[in-house]
Amino acid sequence: MSKLFLASLLLIFGIVLVHGSGCKQARVARAETDLKLGEQIYLENCAACHGQKGDGKGPEADRLKTKPRDFTTGIYKFRSTPSGSLPQDKDIFRTVSRGVRTTSMLAQLQLSENERWAVAKYLKTFSHRFNTEKPLKPVSIPAQPATIREQVTFGKTMYAEAGCNQCHGPEGKGDGTSANELKDDSGNPIAPTNLTLKPFKSGPDPEDLYRTISTGLNGTPMPSYAEALSAKDRWALVAYIMSIATRDRPKGMMGLVGEEVQGMRIDMRAAMAGMMGGRGMMGRGGGMMDRNMRDMMKDMMGR
Ligand code: HEC
Ligand code: HEC
Repeated sequence: MSKLFLASLLLIFGIVLVHGSGCKQARVARAETDLKLGEQIYLENCAACHGQKGDGKGPEADRLKTKPRDFTTGIYKFRSTPSGSLPQDKDIFRTVSRGVRTTSMLAQLQLSENERWAVAKYLKTFSHRFNTEKPLKPVSIPAQPATIREQVTFGKTMYAEAGCNQCHGPEGKGDGTSANELKDDSGNPIAPTNLTLKPFKSGPDPEDLYRTISTGLNGTPMPSYAEALSAKDRWALVAYIMSIATRDRPKGMMGLVGEEVQGMRIDMRAAMAGMMGGRGMMGRGGGMMDRNMRDMMKDMMGR
């Protein structure tokens, strides 16, 4: 091998090495800038409810019936991951983009997509769990079977057999025998959802219901059925729930539902952005929040 060849090989190796570490430094610097941005956005848009320290004790929290999440526990309701797992980043991003319908947590569409990612990642700094644990793989959501009508009948049987009725009531009206005794992990009373009324917290699509039934809502008495029920059983339950969810929840000011009205008073910018279809036009959020937003806008316009 010629000396020249060896020398040029070494040179190339050197360049790759320097370049590589440069990239890493750039990545670290970028992550730090993103966290700074996330923090700034958090203090401006979220701390009023979730608290400066992320403990759910913001100045507005006392007045809200559905309490803002305490992010220090790392326990998240709305996940694609199995019960007990941390959420994936995209789960947090989805909630920030869509909001939680019927609660004061409005879709945060006054923020750009980049800003929503930054604040979603910033939330993780409140809980040390994110330093030591990794979120598990999302629960798989197979395609919904096409035979909806048969599934409704089967789903109705399943609903009683699986014990959904104990909390959600014999007809899904949220009036089961244990409905009045339920508490969330913080000891606050929590009502089982009236499944006959729209909209749902977890989103408007059949996949959203399938995900909730599969993963459960951590921090609440709503269990995960990923182990206990087959995919077929879970899809039948979704079909049954869709068949009974025929009425709209009572609408308040501007067609807002439940505590969304309080959310608007506290969070006018998010409310306005929601009405305008978000910063930039509808659809900038990667398509995730569009269905929820379109639903909410229809409610606001009085359909
Ligand atoms: C007006 C009060 C309010 C503001 C402002 C607010 N939230 Fe919330 N947020 C809530 C409430 C209430 C809940 C609980 C909903 C529930 O448990 O059903 C919640 C829930 C959440 C969740 C769901 C966590 C889970 O369990 O899966 C996330 C994520 C979240 N908020 C992020 C944010 C971020 C980020 C901001 C700011 C950009 C923000 N919130 C601003 C009231 C608020
Ligand atoms: C031990 C009581 C309990 C049992 C049993 C139970 N649930 Fe729930 N479920 C709850 C509570 C409480 C909530 C509300 C959580 C919240 O509002 O944050 C809930 C929420 C839900 C939601 C979310 C609705 C939304 O707004 O997104 C769905 C869907 C649901 N349950 C379906 C079922 C089905 C199907 C079964 C049976 C396979 C079942 N639940 C069994 C207590 C229960």
